[in-house]
Amino acid sequence: MATTEIKNICCIGAGYVGGPTMAVIADRCPSIQVNVVDLNESRINAWNHPDLNQLPIYEPGLDAVVARARGRNLHYSTKIELAIENADMVFISVNTPTKIRGVGAGKASDLRWVEACARQVAKSSKGHTIVVEKSTLPVRTAEVIKAILSSAESAPKGTNNPKSFEVLSNPEFLAEGTAINDLENPDRVLIGGESKKAVEALANIYEQWVPKEKILLTNLWSSELSKLTANAFLAQRISSINSISALCEVTGADVGEVSLAIGRDSRIGSKFLKSGPGFGGSCFKKDILNLAYLCRHFGLPEVAEYWENVVKLNSWQQERIARLVIHKLFGTVAGKKIALLGFAFKANTNDTRESPAIKIAKDLIEEGAELAIYDPKVNSEQIKISLSIDEYKLDDNQASRNESFSDIGKWYVASNIGQSLQGADAALIITEWEEFSRLKWEDLAPLMRQPAWVFDTRAIVDVSAIKKAGIKVWRLGDGAE
Ligand code: NAD
Ligand code: UGA
Repeated sequence: MATTEIKNICCIGAGYVGGPTMAVIADRCPSIQVNVVDLNESRINAWNHPDLNQLPIYEPGLDAVVARARGRNLHYSTKIELAIENADMVFISVNTPTKIRGVGAGKASDLRWVEACARQVAKSSKGHTIVVEKSTLPVRTAEVIKAILSSAESAPKGTNNPKSFEVLSNPEFLAEGTAINDLENPDRVLIGGESKKAVEALANIYEQWVPKEKILLTNLWSSELSKLTANAFLAQRISSINSISALCEVTGADVGEVSLAIGRDSRIGSKFLKSGPGFGGSCFKKDILNLAYLCRHFGLPEVAEYWENVVKLNSWQQERIARLVIHKLFGTVAGKKIALLGFAFKANTNDTRESPAIKIAKDLIEEGAELAIYDPKVNSEQIKISLSIDEYKLDDNQASRNESFSDIGKWYVASNIGQSLQGADAALIITEWEEFSRLKWEDLAPLMRQPAWVFDTRAIVDVSAIKKAGIKVWRLGDGAE
C-alpha cells in the first residue's frame, strides 16, 4: 500500500496555533504548499505584513521562520473555499472557547467554529481529503466531524470523482512564548486515527524534522483525551504548588526552596513547580472545565469535582493577591497609585487571555486604586478589551501622580517603568518579564511615595536589594518576610 503523498495543506485558523504551526511545517517541508486561511481579514493582513515586527503574534523566532517560508510555500489568505478545494489535507485550528450560554454554559467547549469548518470542508473539498483536528476538542468530537463530512461523501452530479474523507486527531502541545522551539523540538507528536494510510501521510510530514520514536500513534479517542489530560495535569501541578505557597507564607518556609527540594525527586520532576499569581492563558481553565463537563456527562461526578478544584484553587490564588495588597497598604487602596508591572499571562507573549492580571487589576480598580500599567508587549487596546473598562486619559500635567485625583478606580498605560512608578505607593509584579528582575531599585525608590512596597508574585526580585533601597517587599510564597 503506497503512502498518500501530501502536496497541498490548508489550515483553517491563523491564530496562536495555526499561524506558527503551519509556518514551521512550511519551513521544514519546502515541497508542500501550505495555505493558512482565516475569516479575520486584519489578522491575515498582519501575517502578510512586510514588516515582520507587525506579525499578529509575538513569539521569539517566529519572524525568522516566516521570513524563510512566506511567499515560497507558505501563504496566508482569506480565500477559504479555494484553499480547501486545492488541499489534500485540511487542519482545523480554530478557537474552541468555553460556551457562554445554553446547555453546558461555563463548562462545555463551544464547537460552533469547528462545526462550521467541517461543513465548509464538506462543501468545498474535491476528491479525497484528510481532515486533521488540530484544535483542542472534547473526546469523541471526531464522531461529529465524520457525521458532517459523510453527508457529502457522494459523487457530485455529472462527475466520477466522489468526495471522501478521513479524520485524524493531532493535538498541539506548544506553549506560548516557546512555540517555535516546541514545534521544532517537540517532546512528542501525537496522531490518532483509524486509517493507517492517513496516519502515515501525516506522520511522514512530521518525520521531515521530528525523530520517528517521538511520533506516537494512538486511536482517535485516546489522542483527543490525551490533550485535555495533559493540560489538566500541568495545571494541577501549578495549583498544587500555589496551595503550598500560601502555607509557606504563614510558616516561614520558602516555596522556591520547597519546589527545588521536591523537584529533585525524579518521580516528581522539576518542571511546572513555579508558584505565581495563578495560571492564565486561553486553555488551562477551559480545558479542565471541559474535562469536568465530560466526566459529569459520562456519569462521573467525583472525577469532575476532583478536576474542578484545580480551577477553584487558581481563582483563590488570584483573589488573595489583591486582598493582600490592600491589607498591606493600610487596608485601603482608594486614591493610591499602584504600578502594575506585566499584563501578559506569562513572559515572552503578548497574549492576555485569562491573564491573572485581569482579575487582580479589576479587584484593585474596584477598590478605588489608580493603576499605571506597564507591559513591554501588551498595548492599551488589548488591556481595554481584557478589562472591559476604558483607559483613563492623563493630561500633560498629570503625567506624574497628582494628589487631587479622586478615589474612583482607574487605569492607564505608562510608557515606561519610571513613569509607572512616579508617585506610586506600590509596584505589583504580575508577569515574569526578564527586565523586571533587573530593575535598579536604588534608582527607582526616590520616584515612589513612602512608605513604598514591591509586591512580587513571581519571585523574581532580589529582596535584599529592595530592602536596602528603603522599600518594603512581599514575595509570593516567602514566609521569611
Ligand atoms: P485563536 O483564537 O488565536 O485562533 C483561532 C482563529 O480561527 C481565529 O483567528 C478565528 O478568526 C479563526 N476562525 C474561527 N472560525 C473560523 C472559520 N470557520 N473559518 C476560518 N477561520 C476561522 O485560537 P488559538 O489560540 O490558535 O487556539 C486554537 C485551538 O488550539 C484551540 O482549540 C486551542 O485550545 C488550541 N490550542 C491553543 C494553544 C495556544 O497556545 N494558544 C496551544 C495548544 C492548543
Ligand atoms: C499550555 C501548555 O503548557 C501547552 O503544552 C499547551 O499546548 C497549551 O497550554 C494549550 O493547550 O494552550 P501556555 O498556556 O501557552 O501552554 O503556557 P504555560 O507555559 O503552560 O503557562 C500557563 C500558565 O501557567 C501561565 O500563566 C504561567 O505563568 C503559569 N505557570 C506555568 C506557573 O504559574 N507556574 C509554572 O511552573 C508554569
